Amino acid sequence: MCGIIAYTGTKSAAPILMDGLRKLEYRGYDSSGISIINRKRIRTFKAAGKLLVLEDRLPDEIAGACGIGHTRWATHGAPTDINAHPHMDESARISVVHNGIIENASALRKQLENSGIICVSETDTEVLAHLLASHRGPLIDAVRSVLKKVQGTYGLAAIDKDSPGSIVIARNGSPVIIGIGDGEMLAASDMSALARHTREVIHLDDGEVAELTATGFTVTTLDAQPSTKSSSQLTSELEEYDKGGYSHYLHREIHDQDNVVLKTLRGRLDTRFSTAHLGGLNLHARDLLKFKRIKILGCGSAYYAGMAGANMIEELARLPVSAEPAAEFRYRNPIIEAETLYIVVSQSGETFDTLAALREVQRKGGFVLGIVNSVGSTIAREVNGGVYMHAGPEVSVASTKAYTSMLTVFALIALMLGRLRDMSPQRGSAMVHALDELPQHIKDTLQLEDQIEKIAGFMASATSTFYLGRTDAFPVALEGAQKLKEISYIHAEAYPASELKHGPLALISIDTPCLIILPDNELLPKSLSSLEEIRTRGAPTISITDADNEQIDALSDHVIRTPRVDSILKPIISGITLQLLAYHIALKLDRDIDQPRNLAKSVTVE
Ligand code: F6R
Repeated sequence: MCGIIAYTGTKSAAPILMDGLRKLEYRGYDSSGISIINRKRIRTFKAAGKLLVLEDRLPDEIAGACGIGHTRWATHGAPTDINAHPHMDESARISVVHNGIIENASALRKQLENSGIICVSETDTEVLAHLLASHRGPLIDAVRSVLKKVQGTYGLAAIDKDSPGSIVIARNGSPVIIGIGDGEMLAASDMSALARHTREVIHLDDGEVAELTATGFTVTTLDAQPSTKSSSQLTSELEEYDKGGYSHYLHREIHDQDNVVLKTLRGRLDTRFSTAHLGGLNLHARDLLKFKRIKILGCGSAYYAGMAGANMIEELARLPVSAEPAAEFRYRNPIIEAETLYIVVSQSGETFDTLAALREVQRKGGFVLGIVNSVGSTIAREVNGGVYMHAGPEVSVASTKAYTSMLTVFALIALMLGRLRDMSPQRGSAMVHALDELPQHIKDTLQLEDQIEKIAGFMASATSTFYLGRTDAFPVALEGAQKLKEISYIHAEAYPASELKHGPLALISIDTPCLIILPDNELLPKSLSSLEEIRTRGAPTISITDADNEQIDALSDHVIRTPRVDSILKPIISGITLQLLAYHIALKLDRDIDQPRNLAKSVTVE
């Protein structure tokens, strides 16, 4: 999604803004631009395409110590030079960058046209620049007044050539974070763009407007009432935003997972009572016992993690648990019950639909826990309690380490709830032990990479594939298929293996490689018959299993044998093999793995 960076201080702004834009690249974008104020003049440079195109257009030196920059992911209007941000008014007095969607942009555009102002771009943002310029007086007053007329979502930053050194930012539904520097101030839509300059940050809340100068800032509401804000410290290190010697962020993050799980588990396993300690729930044991059901909400991979988590909790705590895509849930007028515990799951903590679902539950009086990675994010701040994943920043657009960390948190919640209910100390102790050993098992799984790389060639020429699994293995199949689609652009359809004969068998042929997950459990004979059904139709087969079973070898072209772990943790291990497979297939197809087409990190619009 779009990214914002803004700087005011004493240094040359252009290199700082360009560096910030580079840090925001991972979020996905199709054009970029910067505006710098110097000597009461704003100079703007923008370009469709990659940042390199913008870089080529910049003069060697651009004087000015205050400016704004943007990476755009097209929503209103094609990705062209003209539609790229920043947008200016006709007299080039105001420049503005904006994330989000102005829903009443066409009505506002008509009003502008009636007063003789013609917009040159197709964007909703340009409307803001003209409206701001129609106000005389301080920019902050203009921003407050214009935003009262705007419907929709925004994170924005604006500058006015008549107030050099000052930047006005505002937020409604799209994140903006202030970075407090030494004699300089920054703002960005994402921590990654701030980490190099400061450790001290302030998150704007919806409905807040701030003015930044080199030496300070003020935050107020749209009605000009002062807002009291406290700063927090960045939790991630600068090097966590690098590729760490790997060629892709995705590859680094897949390989980080043993370490990530170690961090997710740190201080949370309780060997004395054979349970898990989760500090931030804001619920006592007696409160937790009151819940009769659990509902898990998330989008994309976070939803699939929720499906896997539902199975874990149901199995260990014997509570009915279901997962639902957050966007579907929020639009179907859901019944919210006091006896249901709601859990929202989000890596970024900013996904619009997940946030909207959270607010809908709270509006109806429900209690919501969050499983969130990004510390201080909107979802993290708005939930009633929660568990941080501590996975570190996830830069790759395709989620891997955050997904694995989400599953690990669900295993902890399942253990904790199980031990509050009727799980025996022996089973609890076995789970604690299994979780403790999980990082090592992940390391061992990553050792399968060479074998998986060879199998990748076998799948890379396919145009359509099937991913199959039963019960616990089905969410793994969904997430594995999602990874393949996202980064290799090969069609992959996940199905419960039990459903094959109710429809999809019609499509199974020698041209549709089928990947089937067969955990060694009581359903193995059933999964084997599914494998046989596929084989009979001549489909190439890859089996992912921890079972020592000769029939699997006889029926499969390739078998990936995973380390044996506690049954609850099997989805974590098999999931990692599918991440490696998707990565190597995409590599063979020469895909742009860290910038997959049509995808953005952190979907902050509806
Ligand atoms: C897939 C992927 C997306 C996200 C989804 C939710 O690889 O990254 O499907 O999982 O957009 O994002 P968060 O977890 O930030 O709410």
